[in-house]
Amino acid sequence: MEIYLDNAATTKPYIDTVTAYHSKDGWYNPSAAYKGAEAVFSEIKKIRQTLAQSLGARDGACVFTSGGTEANNMAVLSGWRKGGHYVTSTIEHPSVYVMFKHLEQQGAQVDYVTPRGFHIEPEDVAALVREETALVSIMHVNNETGALNDIKNIRREVRAKNSNTLFHADGVQALLKTPIDIYDLGVDYYTVSAHKIHGLKGTGALLALNGRTIKPVLLGGSQESVLRAGTENTLGIQAFGEALRRGFADTATLAHVEALRSALIFGLGKIEGAVVNIPHAFVPHILSVSFEGIRAEVLVRLLGDQGIYIGTGAACSRGKVSRVILECGIKRSLADGTVRISMSDNNTADDIQICLEALEKAVRQLRRFSHRG
Ligand SMILES: Cc1ncc(COP(=O)(O)O)c(C=O)c1O
Repeated sequence: MEIYLDNAATTKPYIDTVTAYHSKDGWYNPSAAYKGAEAVFSEIKKIRQTLAQSLGARDGACVFTSGGTEANNMAVLSGWRKGGHYVTSTIEHPSVYVMFKHLEQQGAQVDYVTPRGFHIEPEDVAALVREETALVSIMHVNNETGALNDIKNIRREVRAKNSNTLFHADGVQALLKTPIDIYDLGVDYYTVSAHKIHGLKGTGALLALNGRTIKPVLLGGSQESVLRAGTENTLGIQAFGEALRRGFADTATLAHVEALRSALIFGLGKIEGAVVNIPHAFVPHILSVSFEGIRAEVLVRLLGDQGIYIGTGAACSRGKVSRVILECGIKRSLADGTVRISMSDNNTADDIQICLEALEKAVRQLRRFSHRG
């Protein structure tokens, strides 16, 4: 038995599509001058349009990257200017947060907004914006709690304070998990990643709207309109296109995942000492839950040994208590026992019931053990 409930870390790829593209010469170098290569080049162009459409964009630039991390780094650097000031939040993914910490070391001035509960509030962001603020970067959906930030209003308040300030949103956990109209959000830069929607790892994109420029991070060849040097990840991009097409505007899938989430919340409510961390606005596929007096890694391992895979907060901060969870005001003893259960359209109601039973048993066992100790 294998029940995979760590879909915010990564999703199972549609491997059949990769094999299909591979067998029809989708691996040619798109910069080459023969027919098959030109076909790959135009396929990539089409996928760029598919991605833009899935976000409601009609124009703007879209650069394929090695994932969400590179796209986030690129967005921050695109908004960077000498002497500029930046605003971000303390609950951003490390690919934004650590990038700003790095720029701070280089002399940039950065202010960090803290959340109220699980969310970043528009007025708190606007309060930090000043005349020299070059860029604000606030994530659309938090990867540890599933909290959906009100980007539209945050953007509006930022613009009211300074109409020259650029705005970036990390949409890695939002893509296909909530309806997105990128013009309505009003952002200048938006980040997405393929492996969170059944694409392959190592593929993402940065979109730039309103005529904003993307500053290349990788220099060399003239691929991606000279915005990102390096031979394109053709298979990754093609698999991204297919993942977008399969998941396009699929409200039935969202309703299915939402029903799983409700069943999960209901079941967790019956486990003694479980505190479900519920944001007031959320995406359905991520649920954070804390267990008092229990270490998250031990719980995750116990379930893993039974073939049930859940996560401890962010996949990339293994072993450490989560900065994000602490910033959301969860006390240390609960933060230590916080796990993330994240679903996809592949999961069933049975998966949730089996996971709940295993959690209940494991929590009871760990409590008994700690009382004895
Ligand atoms: C919110 C968020 N931003 C960025 C990333 C980084 O994306 P990638 O793994 O494609 O580099 C992740 C991945 O965990 C994420 O959840």
